[in-house]
Amino acid sequence: MGRDVIVACDFASAEDTFKFLDKFTGRKPFVKIGMELYYAEGPSIVREIKKRGHKIFLDLKLHDIPNTVKKAMSVLSHLDVDICNLHAAGTTAMMQAALEGLTREDGTRPLLIAVTQLTSTDQEAMERDLLINKPIDEVVMHYALTAKNAGLDGVVCSPLEAGKVHDTCGKNFLTVTPGIRFADGDKGDQKRVMTPADAKEIGSDYIVVGRPITAAEDPVAAYERCIREFCD
Ligand code: C5P
Repeated sequence: MGRDVIVACDFASAEDTFKFLDKFTGRKPFVKIGMELYYAEGPSIVREIKKRGHKIFLDLKLHDIPNTVKKAMSVLSHLDVDICNLHAAGTTAMMQAALEGLTREDGTRPLLIAVTQLTSTDQEAMERDLLINKPIDEVVMHYALTAKNAGLDGVVCSPLEAGKVHDTCGKNFLTVTPGIRFADGDKGDQKRVMTPADAKEIGSDYIVVGRPITAAEDPVAAYERCIREFCD
């Protein structure tokens, strides 16, 4: 897969999601389904969005014992999602079990990417609550490399980290980057943001864009602007 824009469908119901997706009569965006929508609507929301012709990144961030994650990933794989994810903190054994669970009988599987340290975790919380005393940048790169060595396809990271992740893990290791805002747009609660054009420049493989598209007056125009800035 090449560079693409993934639209974060952070809606509370299938009804709101379909009202939004109905606006896209041309190119069908790659869609991210998160915990809120998935837990509200269940696996049928994945099947229905897939049936409408969208690719799906199912953002459920699994983290449990290897056997449980393996079985859960097998269920997600049969839902035919395109990308799913887990916490690298679950360790190599969990990540390898996840890959086994994801791999279908015919050898195909969805892409699997890892969350390193959540961007909501700062150095102070990491030291105090997790007893990790290394600099957070080093921790993020270590988790990315561990994910790569376990056989994963990439990581979710800040666009500001994408270049360093590629330097550390190679250019084929995917970087999927939220925290995207237009140069003339509202930042909302995101602190460290980047424009689609800058994310392209720095080498992000996929950008995840929520409110700049979902809350825009003309979501289709905002999506097309992202495509122009990031993909073309
Ligand atoms: O609306 P906005 O563009 O900020 O949405 C970004 C999406 O990416 C949301 O679904 C958010 O939960 C997700 N995300 C993020 N930062 C991370 C990981 C995921 O913003 N570090």
